Amino acid sequence: MSKLAPLEKLKFLSEENVRDLATKHGTPIYVNSRAMFTKQVKSIQGVVTKTPLTIRYAMKANHNHDVLKLIHSLGVKIDASSGYEVEEAIKCGFAPEDILLTSQELPKNLKELVKKGIQFNATSFHQLEEYGALFPGHDVTVRINPGVGSGFDRKVTTAGVSAGFGIWHEYLDRVFETSKKYNLRINRLHTHIGAGSDVEVWKNVIDINLKLLEQMPTVDIVNVGGGFKVARMSDEKTTDMNDVLPALDAKLIEFSARTGRTISVEIEPGTYIAAPSAAIICEVIDTVDTGKNGYTFIRTNTGMNDLLRPALYGAQHPLIAVSRNDEVAKPPKEYIVIGHCCESGDAITVAPGNSEELMPRTLPTVEIGDYIVIEGCGAYCASMSAKGYNGFPETLEIMI
Ligand SMILES: Cc1ncc(COP(=O)(O)O)c(C=O)c1O
Repeated sequence: MSKLAPLEKLKFLSEENVRDLATKHGTPIYVNSRAMFTKQVKSIQGVVTKTPLTIRYAMKANHNHDVLKLIHSLGVKIDASSGYEVEEAIKCGFAPEDILLTSQELPKNLKELVKKGIQFNATSFHQLEEYGALFPGHDVTVRINPGVGSGFDRKVTTAGVSAGFGIWHEYLDRVFETSKKYNLRINRLHTHIGAGSDVEVWKNVIDINLKLLEQMPTVDIVNVGGGFKVARMSDEKTTDMNDVLPALDAKLIEFSARTGRTISVEIEPGTYIAAPSAAIICEVIDTVDTGKNGYTFIRTNTGMNDLLRPALYGAQHPLIAVSRNDEVAKPPKEYIVIGHCCESGDAITVAPGNSEELMPRTLPTVEIGDYIVIEGCGAYCASMSAKGYNGFPETLEIMI
């Protein structure tokens, strides 16, 4: 067994499923699991809170249409990150009123989308001005950078002084001036501090939000974004929704009792719902070694064109070797697993948080033609990769 990572297990597929799906569809293939998406959504919906809670799925995590249709059937609403995502969500059955657009770039057809009924979150003064000029007298959400961020990596920390998302929390006066100029009513306060956030930091940010709310008398919805952690590797921890949501609820109840205001809550999980809910099945296409002081490499027929997270963040994904012919697992061996792109950065087994450093993983000895299942690929994989690099075609996505 590796000192760093124990042998991982399949999460929702059996070895037989892997062989059958690979034979039927070929590899690589993304496999989305209806049961897993449903389980994740229900685990949030099952938490009892006094404060009304709306779940908006952050569709940037995985906007596969079968996934969106399933999420819609589960009664979840949408956090869209571009005008294009809004249109995808509408195609998949979401009512425009159930979509909140929080985008870094104003869609060219913003007017048309708002007229359809979508809700708009202004993430800068420029956006607030543009929206105000188009829709004077309307309701609007403002995204505030609360001054504190938290993410599993700097690249996913979306608040604090080093993050260019939202309006800085000290500029509320200018927010009020701008909204007054266009007779806008600020009905929702939005913050999103990062992905894989530290729960304690996240709870502190709720307190910051409540202080902001005291200064924002027209707000009746607080949206605290996403960022809930999911254990992909067996030694990682998942955020306990039965801890964070009641904690949020208690703070809101106390706020209501103190101020006499009723505030409803929204969260925007992407990772939490999607990450554990899909896997990539790929194939060992080659093995190479670099001598007695080097490594043994497994080359797979996937890589950064399907899965960018290891190269981008040093992200860890469970790897499970499945013998092509249903043979008994061979003795374990340390491997570096790499992708098929002509790029030394296309490595799948890298050190946690450091894609510069290769990190061997223990797997049963594999042969060319065996399968590798990469788990934890439901979020920010198909929707966020170096698509088309080296001319590799787009990988098939199925729902089982
Ligand atoms: C505004 C907003 N809300 C929600 C999310 C979802 O975050 P996560 O996938 O960490 O839950 C993101 C992700 O970047 C985001 O930008």
